[in-house]
Amino acid sequence: MATFEVDLTGINPVYRPYLADGHRYQLYFGGSSSGKSCFLATRAVLDALSGRNILVVRKVQRTLHASCWNEVMKAMRRLGAQALFRISRSEMTLTVVKTGAQILFAGLDDVEKIKSITPQTGALTDIWIEEATECSRDDFKQLDKRLRGQSAFKKRVTLSFNPTWKDHWIFREFFGGWAEEGQEPGERPGVRVEPGRSYQDRSLSILRTTYLDNRFLTEDDRRALEEEKAGYYCTVYTLGQWGTRGDAVFTDWRSADFRAEPPPEGLRVFYGLDFGFAHDPSAAVRCLLDREHRRIYVTDTFSETGLVIWQLAERLKAFAGRAKVTCDSADPRCIAELRALGVLAAPAKKGPDSLLHGIQWLQGYRIIVNRDCEEMIREMSGYCWKEGSPPQPRPGNDHLIDALRYALESEQRPRKAVLKKKREVGL
Ligand SMILES: Nc1ncnc2c1ncn2[C@@H]1O[C@H](COP(=O)(O)OP(=O)(O)O)[C@@H](O)[C@H]1O
Ligand SMILES: [Mg+2]
Repeated sequence: MATFEVDLTGINPVYRPYLADGHRYQLYFGGSSSGKSCFLATRAVLDALSGRNILVVRKVQRTLHASCWNEVMKAMRRLGAQALFRISRSEMTLTVVKTGAQILFAGLDDVEKIKSITPQTGALTDIWIEEATECSRDDFKQLDKRLRGQSAFKKRVTLSFNPTWKDHWIFREFFGGWAEEGQEPGERPGVRVEPGRSYQDRSLSILRTTYLDNRFLTEDDRRALEEEKAGYYCTVYTLGQWGTRGDAVFTDWRSADFRAEPPPEGLRVFYGLDFGFAHDPSAAVRCLLDREHRRIYVTDTFSETGLVIWQLAERLKAFAGRAKVTCDSADPRCIAELRALGVLAAPAKKGPDSLLHGIQWLQGYRIIVNRDCEEMIREMSGYCWKEGSPPQPRPGNDHLIDALRYALESEQRPRKAVLKKKREVGL
């Protein structure tokens, strides 16, 4: 096909290396007005000209016209490429006249359209999910499935968004290897990390940008963003960073795919158990302690209601073998019964401050949770302080966290330091 000249000066330099990026999953996130949407709209036009078929989606159909459609139209005009496309505003399709390659638009709430939408020629090669934090993990998985199958082009799912809270599924799913500015990225084969800026592995690429990366902003736009000096709005929209819930007990934790990124070998293994029955689950944790690097790896958990003691014993024997399992000491009879049934159960020592002391000790470590331990991730995400003093975590879903405290109880030496009670949103 005919070549098409692109004036690169019309594209913010930070994005230029991503024009032809082939990663399966591509995340462009960061502050507002950082040029994400403009860039991806520009890339969509260029990609269509090179024969790709692109589906642009947002959660809500009615927001598409004013956002993605307009962005892509503007990009087309900036590139001087209008004459090369057939434009149907009513159908919301852009078709390259010579090749039939298309840019299609659909809202995830238009279920019928999403299901049936297919390009005029060839297969869909790209899905761009704009404002992806609006979408659920299920939405994403469904879209991802649409890109199975062979094609001459590398198929890609691109997500663009402003970050929200760290308990969002996108953070959990994709940011395990991400490092914030000033953080040690750690060495892993095949992984490139520029802290605070970018991440790349075999299938995933993440780029974080802020308004400072957008050359096309006016002084007024900049000033408006710089007026935000603190709080959630500043963290998320000005700095383009994931927000941490203001009253989260644990702020230095993350999930990771232990199959792709296993914990180091040779670490000591610990088991902990919190008793439950009807309302609360019996919850057990297996973890590894890396004292030297101040890390705790939560590798396996189970959390189940309705287990009578012999069932629990069977579960524990399969889970921990003959290793010691440190248990909630509130119920010595349960411990005695477990022992009689062949589990090496031992009581955690409970002092008057053991809860706070245990939390304080855990706060001194980075906690890395295996991505498979979904319940643990839920607990960690929701574990918050109660208002008022003395500091106390809000009761609720904390059984696996308790089990983790018990597991490592023997390692906790008294410390005088003040409990970290993070009130500020942000990092
Ligand atoms: N390549 C570009 N050419 C011209 N203007 C741009 C370009 N990139 C960004 N802009 C300007 O910057 C504004 C913010 O960019 P946008 O892509 O909407 O940011 P984001 O999606 O990150 O919030 C746009 O409305 C546009 O005015
Ligand atoms: Mg945008």
